Amino acid sequence: MIVIKLGGSVITDKEKDSHFNKRITYRLAEEIASAGKKVLIVHGAGSFGHPQAKRYRLNEGFVDKKRQVEGISLTHFSVRVLNLKVMEALRHAGIPAVSIPPFPFIDESFIEKAKVAVKDGLVPVTFGDVVLDGNVSIISGDILMEIFAREFEVERAIFVTNVDGIYEDPLRKETLIRECTVKELEKVFFKGNAGADVTSGMAGKVKSIKEIAYSGVEVDVINGRKPGRLKDAINGIVAGTRVRKNE
Ligand code: IPE
Repeated sequence: MIVIKLGGSVITDKEKDSHFNKRITYRLAEEIASAGKKVLIVHGAGSFGHPQAKRYRLNEGFVDKKRQVEGISLTHFSVRVLNLKVMEALRHAGIPAVSIPPFPFIDESFIEKAKVAVKDGLVPVTFGDVVLDGNVSIISGDILMEIFAREFEVERAIFVTNVDGIYEDPLRKETLIRECTVKELEKVFFKGNAGADVTSGMAGKVKSIKEIAYSGVEVDVINGRKPGRLKDAINGIVAGTRVRKNE
């Protein structure tokens, strides 16, 4: 089983409010279908959730509940709209996908639902969402990747992004890491963080990547804008960064 995250920066245009990258997402769906492996799919929110969640400060907990109630509804609505578009792409490619949203919160039943779907030959799809966990917060697709990697027999986790992989220094192309151990990644990101690399969205992701690799699952980070790379990664050929699992 392979767990794949379609990043919000690939399936949407983060510069434009609620802009779905239809052509790219349909191609990625075709690549998943033609690789022919058992998969679990997670996707990000991109411009369908981040701007709304930020506007209503949903990642800060309840700070202005009256106003935030509208933000919770709007953010969840936005990610559902995006999810439907992703589902359309997957179904168009012939993938028997079913949607399992994290809202209103994640508990054991979330995993149970995904397991039941897998058992019956379906492909569960979940996504970054707003959650009510006693307070209000945002669960990212990266955290959902950690949960799937932990709860299922997963051989590999693939993060589909809009960059070629993890860079020691994102401003220098030649510093792309092609392969490393999770221990080596600890050192690299210590350096990377000094440059406050938040614009690429990679810094936060690396925490989840390390978590997954430590739990014994190999992680690949690839560029989904380059045709063929997702299919290759699913088949074990990675043109990006491969983080070897902790042996
Ligand atoms: C964010 O999910 C969810 C919301 C903002 C509602 P992600 O953090 O996984 O989304 P991307 O991939 O970075 O866009």
